[in-house]
Amino acid sequence: MSSSYILLTTTIILLILFLYLSWVFVSIKVVDKEQKGKTNERRDFLFTASYALGVVGVGATIWPLIDQMNPDASVKALAITEVDVSNVGLGKTITVLWRGKPVFIRKRTQEEIGEAQSVKLEELKDPQKDQDRVKKAEWLVMVGVCTHLGCVPLGNKGDFNGWFCPCHGSHYDTSGRIRKGPAPTNLEIPKYEFVNNNTIKIG
Ligand code: FES
Repeated sequence: MSSSYILLTTTIILLILFLYLSWVFVSIKVVDKEQKGKTNERRDFLFTASYALGVVGVGATIWPLIDQMNPDASVKALAITEVDVSNVGLGKTITVLWRGKPVFIRKRTQEEIGEAQSVKLEELKDPQKDQDRVKKAEWLVMVGVCTHLGCVPLGNKGDFNGWFCPCHGSHYDTSGRIRKGPAPTNLEIPKYEFVNNNTIKIG
């Protein structure tokens, strides 16, 4: 929900509330003035009708605004991406777009897995075990956005045989962990799951 929608909705609600209260106030004055001496029954009816009408009016006005803040079906679909990885060869990476960001899916070799798992946590700027970054050792799934200033790192590059961001020289290892350079944290792991052996659902 964007802040502009919240601001717009708040403004409209306050405006409607103001108009409604003004209307009720004027009604009371008119009823008091013109209906003096008559029974209170008519006034009670007018008040009840006014309140009911006001509630319905506010609800009818606000509902479309609230409803339009919900993401529509196309946005929801973009939030989840299913990827067929059956054609990804060993040692290869594919890049898919998820929520407007590149996501790297790499089928790692045994050598890469071994390198990633043998690193001591004390050597890492953002200590994280390789096992905590993958669901299956062979598959590394991560957001391909450098955690320094958002460039897209290059694969099979850098001092650690992983990814290298040429913008300011950040080196990531075969687990996507930052090893050298200005990036403060490891490449982000998105929410994902294996639907089956050949399909990964991201989001
Ligand atoms: S954006 Fe990647 S090192 Fe600066």
